[in-house]
Amino acid sequence: MGGSVFLLNGTVERTDGVPPTTTLLDYLRLQAGLTGTKEGCAEGDCGACTVMISKRDADGALRHHAVNSCLMTIGQAAGLAVTTVEGVGGPDRLSPVQQALVEGDGAQCGYCTPGFVMAMTAFAKGGEEATEGTIHDMLAGNLCRCTGYRPIVEACIESVGADIEADDPSAADALDECAAPACLSGRGQVMHVPRSSSELSALLAEAPDAWILGGGTDMGLRFSKGRESPPTVISTGRVGEMRLLEAGEDGGLHFGGAVTYTELLPHLTRLYPAFADLVRRIGSRQIRNLGTIAGNLVTASPIGDTIPCLMALGAEVTLASGTGRRRILVEDFITGYRTTDLRAGEFIESVSIPPPGDGALFYAYKISKRFDQDISSVVLAATLTVTGGVVAESRLAIGGVGPRTLRLERTEAALKGGAWTEEAVEAALAILDAEIAPMDDFRASADYRRAVSGALLRRLYLESQTPDYDLRLEAL
Ligand SMILES: Cc1cc2nc3c(=O)[nH]c(=O)nc-3n(C[C@H](O)[C@H](O)[C@H](O)COP(=O)(O)OP(=O)(O)OC[C@H]3O[C@@H](n4cnc5c(N)ncnc54)[C@H](O)[C@@H]3O)c2cc1C
Ligand code: FES
Ligand code: FES
Repeated sequence: MGGSVFLLNGTVERTDGVPPTTTLLDYLRLQAGLTGTKEGCAEGDCGACTVMISKRDADGALRHHAVNSCLMTIGQAAGLAVTTVEGVGGPDRLSPVQQALVEGDGAQCGYCTPGFVMAMTAFAKGGEEATEGTIHDMLAGNLCRCTGYRPIVEACIESVGADIEADDPSAADALDECAAPACLSGRGQVMHVPRSSSELSALLAEAPDAWILGGGTDMGLRFSKGRESPPTVISTGRVGEMRLLEAGEDGGLHFGGAVTYTELLPHLTRLYPAFADLVRRIGSRQIRNLGTIAGNLVTASPIGDTIPCLMALGAEVTLASGTGRRRILVEDFITGYRTTDLRAGEFIESVSIPPPGDGALFYAYKISKRFDQDISSVVLAATLTVTGGVVAESRLAIGGVGPRTLRLERTEAALKGGAWTEEAVEAALAILDAEIAPMDDFRASADYRRAVSGALLRRLYLESQTPDYDLRLEAL
């Protein structure tokens, strides 16, 4: 047992004696003396703390991602390469991204700049096409209070092509020196890093109060802002069964509880495009590079974005423990305000989304004050099958209008078997209104949420009538 081991700007770093849930940001600034990485909010919102993590993919090539170092722990960094702003250039040799920011007046006070540099560097190295859309999406997790975004976007356009340097093969080889151990420790805290579901089950049986750590984009706040330090943590990130991602034999999608949003997105785009569009609005890229659907489900927030989608699609979770596995519908898993049916010793091993039914249409709407990087006020998701003008099947689920995400069963019943017409939808609105119980809070008033819920059902109807609005689910 010892500390985490990772490559830090190309050099092997050992964190012996430091608790594994120490945030990477604190470690970089306070232990490693790398103060180029800044703290703005310490809760994943501003991007000032962005660093690049790199890991090998199945082919052995390095894959690069921007992450919020204020949320990621040093335990999660074990076995990865971490690059900070100090690792991409210096006063005598600016990287193309840095050069473009300087020449294009992309910085004023400079506090946000290291975060922008690292988000842009990870993007450039990812080899993604630089379009206005991808650049805006990539920068959505970085806030600047003084420069304004136009010069920064222009610097990005200017530099992205130029910044793609082939990875030094020795960098990938050096990662082999940093193999993640099965157990990390520091100052009385232990973080287990099991490799299989059976190992994870056994650890949970031994330590039922251990904290299960997924991507850490919810739990990380307890480490960064909350300064909590649980004695035992179990990280799911390297559990083989929880890293699987496959098209199920039935034509649906089956993925492990440790698969990140970023890893899921290409598959969701192919199978459930409206779900993918919604996932692209969860937090920022930095959040999606770490966060998981399993974490979203266990957090069970009434405004958790994926929950209405999974309910409307009839998704199931497989819960594993030392005594076996059980598979239940997501709508049965969520039991109340931030409560679930997860029992002691259990964890979400995987999530299964069934194949799209013949002719089924899937819709998902997220309403929030800002388009990017904002928590929803209301989310409505619906699967709808209309045959010969009649509603053969519908599954409607809504978040943000009650203490838990709701399946709108009475509204569904009112629509089922009837003609799919504007009049039928107008009639169903009264039932929907009676089914929901929204509250006032700083995101939206109860009245606004009611009005939006009805408007979204109307929108669903109108979009279903628009021939070129092609959200028809494609079979595999
Ligand atoms: C800046 C910011 C923006 C965000 N934006 C959004 C947003 O737009 N929409 C949204 O819905 N959410 C948002 N979130 C919340 C968060 O990103 C999601 O809920 C995410 O899906 C959590 O997943 P995770 O893997 O990071 O969970 P973690 O933080 O690792 O864990 C969350 C909870 O799930 C438990 N857990 C994790 N994995 C498992 C498992 N396999 N089995 C059992 N228990 C498990 C943990 O013990 C913990 O209780 C945001 C968060 C931040 C910080
Ligand atoms: S410090 Fe703001 S996102 Fe990390
Ligand atoms: S340059 Fe000052 S916050 Fe961005």
